[in-house]
This record gives sequence, structure tokens and C-alpha cells, in this order.
Amino acid sequence: MDSEIPGKKEKIAASDADVAAKMEAFRLMIREAAEKFGKVDRSETIRLISHLDADGLSSAAVVIKTLLRENRKYCLSVVPQLTEDVAVQLAAEGYNHYIFTDLGTGQFSILKKHLAAAGKTVFVLDHHHVQGEYQAENIVHVNPHLAGIESSREISGAGVAYLFSKALNEKNKDLAHLALIGAIGDMQEDCGFSGLNKEILQDAKAAGALKVITGLRLFGVQTKPLHKVLEYSSEFPIPGITGSESAAIQFLLQLGINPKDGNSWRKLTDLSDEDLVRLATGVVLQRIGVESPEAIIGPVYILKQEADGSPLRDAREFATLLNACGRLGKASVGIGACLGNTKLKEEALQVLGDYKQQISNSLSWYEKTLKLNGSSEKKSITLENGFVIINAEDNIMPTMIGTLASIVAKSSSFNPGTFVLSLARAEDNFTKISLRLAGEKSVKGEFNLMEILTAIAEKVGGQAGGHHEAAGAIIRTEKEEEFIAAAKHHLAEKRIEEKLTP
Ligand code: C5P
Ligand code: ZN
Repeated sequence: MDSEIPGKKEKIAASDADVAAKMEAFRLMIREAAEKFGKVDRSETIRLISHLDADGLSSAAVVIKTLLRENRKYCLSVVPQLTEDVAVQLAAEGYNHYIFTDLGTGQFSILKKHLAAAGKTVFVLDHHHVQGEYQAENIVHVNPHLAGIESSREISGAGVAYLFSKALNEKNKDLAHLALIGAIGDMQEDCGFSGLNKEILQDAKAAGALKVITGLRLFGVQTKPLHKVLEYSSEFPIPGITGSESAAIQFLLQLGINPKDGNSWRKLTDLSDEDLVRLATGVVLQRIGVESPEAIIGPVYILKQEADGSPLRDAREFATLLNACGRLGKASVGIGACLGNTKLKEEALQVLGDYKQQISNSLSWYEKTLKLNGSSEKKSITLENGFVIINAEDNIMPTMIGTLASIVAKSSSFNPGTFVLSLARAEDNFTKISLRLAGEKSVKGEFNLMEILTAIAEKVGGQAGGHHEAAGAIIRTEKEEEFIAAAKHHLAEKRIEEKLTP
């Protein structure tokens, strides 16, 4: 019994109080930022800068809707990363007030040097890890880490933007679902939300924008034939079925579920409750032997405002669509979709199609290069015990290189714990880098990829950032070779070091 362990209750009480104190500190930080922003003259045009991933676009949508409700003018830029050059350009513009969403924390010293020093007022609404400097005159810095909230799953950039927006005007509670789309985009949803995301979920439900049902957590359930959904189930693999259309059809027939209705293929949404239960049980049984076989069943987030049968009804698909828009240079289309513009939603669906094509092209290049690797002088892919380095140069878009690294890391071609480092050329003689780790959750907790990549990138004067589970960096292209040499050394060492740690 708890009461028999001396001191245990007090410890729990202390830790609860600790969490509450951190939350209160964060809420105060948000309230103060909102108050300060409320005092900005309404004739000022607000310069908004956001990150180009799904979280960044959701953040931008939240802030734009908020500014419009306040009758404020804005000017938006979406950037893949906030480099010093970008900060210099922004500082040269005639605006007085800047809001950075889903970025800024990792580039705080750059903002201080170029914007704050030039007398600009800056609001940073971010959730990335703090690196070095974090306070300066003229910069209002809102980040849960500054209040001691350390978890990388608690809140997204869009979540921080949403809390700020709600503090400005309670009416903005109807934007809560956008904060959750951002969180999903940043992989913060893990069979449910935790921490502040959980509170935001309550707001989204209360606003009537979102409902949660329990179901199979597979992509395409709203739109694709059932057997196709099973065939493409790469995020939650079903051994013997994922990757094979005929096996998927056979599997359904064995379960007594007819994949067809007359001449047309059935969708998951067409199944009876009885069939759904049979399918769910069958899928979980087929996954025995995989880590957490039941994880394929869980909460599914339905965006109630989206039409029945639209892929956008599933919040996870909405997040993918935003990623597609950001990575293919159509950020404004994604933001328009978030804001409910019907025409832009249609366009966004087309961009999603193009994105899938880009992914397929990237994978073809990777597979072809892997086969040819070693037959030419220069190796584009380095395979070593504990790590893989993929140098795509100009063969893959810099905005797609992170997606490739994620897919390769998830593909089970490498042992759990293998680092997947990828590089691709960006504009202006920069090279974009991404780092991921192969394997499932249990391995991932052991490493902080942001720290690892920062250590390597700093050796060649680059800049890195991100999270424990996904990190990115930018270096000068002329430093590529030096970077790869440093990475080989560092990753090999890291691997051994971690292995030796009991
Ligand atoms: O681009 P990629 O998907 O690899 O980025 C992974 C993470 O690293 C993201 O959270 C991104 O914001 C961050 N990142 C960063 N600085 C960079 C590139 C990426 O903080 N130069
Ligand atoms: Zn984010």
C-alpha cells in the first residue's frame, strides 16, 4: 500500500505541485505576451514568419485568423529555416512588430543581433528546445521549456500560438483543432495526447470542431478501398499483408469480410459494426510479434467541419496534406485549407498527390542508388554498423530529405538504433541535413538527436535544431565532406558509447 512507503505520498504531492507551478508559470508567460501584443497599435502591419512544416503552417493559420479577428493587417513569410541571412533581410524591412511561430527559439541569438538590436519588437511563439540565449530586450519569448516544461510531446508550435491567441480573445477557442493538427504533424500524438495538448483537445471538442472515435489508425480509411488501406499500412505494419494487395484481399476474405460490394470496392466506413470488430481483432492478431500489436487501434480524430468522405476529415491526413503543401512550396495553399477556403482545399489535395509522387521519386532514387552503391568511385550512401549516411546532393529536394530519412528509418531495413543521416543541396550553396533513428519507440528514448546533430553541425560552422526524435541542420555546401567525416566519427562514437552505458 502506498501509505506504507514512507515519504512516497509527499513526493507525489511535491511533483504534482511542481507540475502545477510550471503550468502556472507558462500560463503567466502567455498572458503577459498577449497583454503586450494587445497594446500594439492597430495601424501597424504585423510581420509574421513561420516554419514550413505542418506545425508551422497550422501555427500561421492560427495567428492569421487571430489577427484578422483583431482587424489587424499582416504580412506572412514561410521559411524552411531561419538563417542569419533571413534575419538580416527581415530587419531591413520597414515593419516594427514581428511574430515568429514554430521557430525562433533555436535562432534566438540571431533575432537578438539583427531584429531586437535594430529596435524591432519581436514575439517568439515556439516549442523547440532552448539553445544558448533565450532572453533579450524587445523580445517576448514564449516557450514551454522556459517554464521548465520539458516534454517534447506536450505542445506544438501551433499549440503555443493557440494559447496566445486564446489569451487575446476567448473566441479563438474555435481554432483549437488547428493546434492539434500541428501537434500531430510534429508526431506528438501517440495513441492519445498528453499535457497541454490534452487540454487543447478538450477545447477543440467543446468548440464542436473535432470528435474522437476509436478505430483502426490507418491512412486513407475515409477515401481508399479497404484492401488498399491494409496494403499501405506501413506506419503500423501488418506482417504478411502490408505491401501486398492480394494478401490484403485474401486476409479480408478469411475474416469473412467481403472486400467488394457488387462491382465496387468497399471502404472501411462502409463496414457494419460487426465487421469492424472482426477486422480489428484480425488485424491485432496478425500483428502479434510486432512491438505493441494493439497500437494500430486507438483514437481517430475527426474534423467535423470537413465533408464526409473527404480525406481532410481525418486530422492525421490533414497534417500530411499540410506537410505536402509546405514541402512543395505551396504553403499559402495549406494555410488557406486550414482557414476553410474550399478552393484552396481542392488545390491542397492536388498538392498532396504531387507530394506522394515526390516521395515515390525519392524512394526510387534511394533504392536505385543503394543497388549501384560501390560500383562507382563516389558513394552516395555510406552503410556502416550503427549508421547510414545518404548524400542525395541535387537528386532530392532539400525539403523532401527529412521525409526520406523518416521513411528509411521506419522501413525496418536497418537494425533498431541505427542513425539515418541524410543530406541534400538547398539554394544559395547551402546543404540541408536531417537525422532520424531507426526502430520503434523503446529505442528512441535513448538518444537526443538534436544534441547529436548540433554537435556535428557546429564542427563545420552549421546550425542545427529540432527535437529528440527528429533533428535538422543547415551547413555550407563546401563543408559537406568535412561534415560527413565529422558525422562518421561522432555517430560511431555515440553508438559505442551508448552501447557501453548499462
Ligand atoms: O527538416 P527536418 O524534418 O529534418 O527537421 C527536423 C526538425 O529539426 C524540425 O523540428 C525542424 O524544425 C528542426 N530544424 C531546425 N533547424 C534546421 C533544420 C531543421 O531546427 N536548420
Ligand atoms: Zn513544431
